[in-house]
Amino acid sequence: MQDFESFLAANLPRVSSIHPEYEEALQAMLLAGGKRFRPRLLLGIVQAYEPLLLESTMHPALALEIFHTYSLIHDDLPAMDDATLRRGEPTLHTRFDEALAILAGDALNTYAFEVLARSPFRADVRVELVRILAENGGAGGMVLGQAIDLRFEKHPLKLEEVLELHRNKTAKLIAASLEMGAVIVDLPRETRKALYDFGIELGLLFQVQDDILDATQSEEEAGKPTGNDLEKNSFVTLLGLEGALDYADGLAESLQERFESFDAPIRDALGGLMERYLFRHKAHRGPLA
Ligand code: IPE
Ligand code: IPE
Ligand code: MG
Ligand code: MG
Ligand code: MG
Repeated sequence: MQDFESFLAANLPRVSSIHPEYEEALQAMLLAGGKRFRPRLLLGIVQAYEPLLLESTMHPALALEIFHTYSLIHDDLPAMDDATLRRGEPTLHTRFDEALAILAGDALNTYAFEVLARSPFRADVRVELVRILAENGGAGGMVLGQAIDLRFEKHPLKLEEVLELHRNKTAKLIAASLEMGAVIVDLPRETRKALYDFGIELGLLFQVQDDILDATQSEEEAGKPTGNDLEKNSFVTLLGLEGALDYADGLAESLQERFESFDAPIRDALGGLMERYLFRHKAHRGPLA
């Protein structure tokens, strides 16, 4: 991931202007760190089948992280979760102002597609990557999930509805990360679908874990405000903490089984990441780092 961080540093959005804080606002949240989970998934698939394409894959990996970072900047806005801390740093709207935070999010959203469009792949591959990110991140994906999340605050949903919320809000972008890898290395349709479906379940587990962190970690540990999901349709609100832990255990078990059915190269390339962020939960019942 050192290569990814160097690539990110070399490809930050750079715009010089008379605006004294604009460029800094575009770059700050990208530089603040984060788990880089989505780039890791994409790079893992490419590592598994075509390591020679890893360098080119830095472009879509960065596009995913930029897009995700835009979603976090907007998620933290006063109109949404109204959060003061993100990735251990003050949120953009607290550090600068709300207008600049909205605009930095807008700029990162479009910059993600610019980076994708410039990636060194065949034109048909690039178009497919753009489509996958747009479909899973946009109107029928992450944006829809955020809309449902906010629309039903203080209105408890049923489990199936909560799953629909989180499938859109979180799981589709995670599934898209795996599918983009499958497109780059040109995996057969069935494998591509199996990876996407696995990604949806993986994304649900990722969000259950995030909801558990909200209930169990301090702001310092999480690098973002916690204890904020009480009025939301989080898995902990719906199932209680013990119930959410059990639900995570069940998902982790089913995912582990599915993961073991993948080819050895995928298991080798992604096993460490799964262990670190997801399956570990099962053994320790402990929060994620
Ligand atoms: C946070 O995403 C929002 C969710 C979708 C749960 P991450 O947990 O991937 O946040 P970073 O990228 O590590 O900061
Ligand atoms: C937001 O979910 C997920 C996004 C699509 C941005 P949360 O609101 O639970 O994310 P955190 O906990 O603030 O990172
Ligand atoms: Mg939110
Ligand atoms: Mg939030
Ligand atoms: Mg959360």
